[in-house]
Amino acid sequence: MKTTNNTVLISGGSAGIGLEIARILSAYGNKVIITGRDRSRLDRALSQLENVTGIVSDVSKKADAETLAATLKRDFPGLNIVINNAGRALLYDIADSDGAFEKAEDEMLTNYLAVIRLNEMLLPLLKQQADAAIVNVSSVVAFVPGGLPTYSASKAALHSYTQSLRIALGRSSRVKVFELMPPLVDTEFSAVINGRNGIPPQKVAEDFVAALEKDDFEIRVGKTQAIYELYLKSPAEALRAMNPGT
Ligand SMILES: NC(=O)c1ccc[n+]([C@@H]2O[C@H](COP(=O)([O-])OP(=O)(O)OC[C@H]3O[C@@H](n4cnc5c(N)ncnc54)[C@H](OP(=O)(O)O)[C@@H]3O)[C@@H](O)[C@H]2O)c1
Repeated sequence: MKTTNNTVLISGGSAGIGLEIARILSAYGNKVIITGRDRSRLDRALSQLENVTGIVSDVSKKADAETLAATLKRDFPGLNIVINNAGRALLYDIADSDGAFEKAEDEMLTNYLAVIRLNEMLLPLLKQQADAAIVNVSSVVAFVPGGLPTYSASKAALHSYTQSLRIALGRSSRVKVFELMPPLVDTEFSAVINGRNGIPPQKVAEDFVAALEKDDFEIRVGKTQAIYELYLKSPAEALRAMNPGT
């Protein structure tokens, strides 16, 4: 996949991994559109970036997704890369918690169902382009759950869907499907799970852009690769590694 002269949508591009991907892709001469729920957070991000447009949009809201898709079709008809990056994680003890269903519903909507909805809305536009890609941002916990119980399940669902989408679009179109699987990354998102011990979001963005260029569709950043290899060798050992003390 070329890494210049694209028109790229990044959901949740006002902070963390999405912001760092926006920074690199805009510097490489791509037109970048970032979304987020909070206008002032978007404006802060835009003030650091060149050639980037910010649109307030919540991926979990159907009406927002419809408005976003219509705006992109009208104002950015060359859109050829969609990066589904916005995510939601809730830390709680699944053995002893009220509201596990609502928490899981919330995570599934943002991390899984909203991705399917936005892809469905934007695929007709992507299919018109000579070179197009969908990038779904899952996680190391897509293979092996760790710490965040129903968040891990939502990323496992996203991983499975991404594989099916790649196969289906490979048969019927030129749209490539990538999956970015970061390990623990030091962002606001991971503050409650010792994110300080994670790798910087800039490293994830650099590895992502290098993989995009090489058509490396399954992008296992940093420790995700080691956990993946352990998982292939022994799922039980990988589960223990992700859940120390069990
Ligand atoms: N950090 C990690 O350790 C880690 C590890 C593996 C995978 N990931 C995945 O990487 C992705 C990005 O995480 P991050 O760590 O970069 O998070 P982050 O630093 O908290 O940034 C999240 C971004 O998404 C936006 N956002 C959140 N909910 C949204 C929604 N419903 N609709 C639209 N935008 C939304 C946020 O802006 P607003 O709050 O203003 O909406 C912000 O721009 C997520 O999918 C996450 O699951 C993270």
